[in-house]
Amino acid sequence: MVYKIGFIGTGKMASAIIKGIVDKGFCAKDEIIASNPRESSRKRAEAELGITVVTSNAEVVSSAEVVVLSVKPQQIPGVFSSEKLEFGPSHTLVSIAAGVTIETLKNYVPDSKIIRVMPNICSTNFVGTACFSYSENCSENDVNTVRSIFESIGICIEVKEKDIDAVTGISGSSPAFMFMILDAMADAGVLLGLPKDLSLKFAAQTMMGSAITLMESGKHPGELKDMVCSPGGSTIEGVKVLEEYGVRSAFISAIQACAEKNKELGRKG
Ligand SMILES: NC(=O)c1ccc[n+]([C@@H]2O[C@H](COP(=O)([O-])OP(=O)(O)OC[C@H]3O[C@@H](n4cnc5c(N)ncnc54)[C@H](OP(=O)(O)O)[C@@H]3O)[C@@H](O)[C@H]2O)c1
Repeated sequence: MVYKIGFIGTGKMASAIIKGIVDKGFCAKDEIIASNPRESSRKRAEAELGITVVTSNAEVVSSAEVVVLSVKPQQIPGVFSSEKLEFGPSHTLVSIAAGVTIETLKNYVPDSKIIRVMPNICSTNFVGTACFSYSENCSENDVNTVRSIFESIGICIEVKEKDIDAVTGISGSSPAFMFMILDAMADAGVLLGLPKDLSLKFAAQTMMGSAITLMESGKHPGELKDMVCSPGGSTIEGVKVLEEYGVRSAFISAIQACAEKNKELGRKG
């Protein structure tokens, strides 16, 4: 085995993880191999990430013991049917595919160790959120290796496998919701006469500051919200509007919908 870690697929999530682990010194660029069957994608990944990118997924498997399966759930059957991949007992398959269970992955790699991870796109900036579960044949060492990969780019918490779909909704998908909120807040600034870039800066710093305040204070979010709302003041007017639009219930339904969709995608993996 020549490489410390391999990636099957070089898309958004693989790129985010690779950038993160290289920048944090988990491994050097020349210790990473990745594969992509499409020439234009290989060239883009090589130029952007500075790693070795090959055509054959089998070459990644024969060159690295830790292999991150970073294709879309519906692309997984194609990965295993187009080439014979020599996954053996010394391999750890790290799957980041939404919804695809360890049981399903065992059909593809019956002799290998399997760790199912749900990361998020914020990994690129070392503020990722990941959770994981693993097959019973994983050693403590295997688990620690994967944990240290994802801890180098954010937080990484072990959960029961049945809870991964819920975490996918809450942290895997939700950066999209946060970006939607930030864009809307910045649009509100524009409506009120501020330039968009300045509005966005105020909105993003406020979202980050609110999250840090919540985590560092250990207080309930409702209590922190109450601290901002003065009796008869302007903030409670805004809270009333958000309640009228059912924003909280919309978030609950959106995350529930993500979790359901993950289960559905998993059935295609
Ligand atoms: N994006 C997120 O925020 C996020 C968060 C959590 C988990 N995930 C999970 O991460 C996985 C990847 O998602 P993504 O957003 O990174 O998708 P993506 O950008 O589409 O990446 C998929 C990559 O796989 C490549 N690919 C397709 N078929 C292949 C094959 N047969 N062999 C090797 N490579 C192949 C694609 O090639 P091309 O570049 O040529 O299309 C692309 O580089 C998914 O399973 C998803 O559930 C994503």
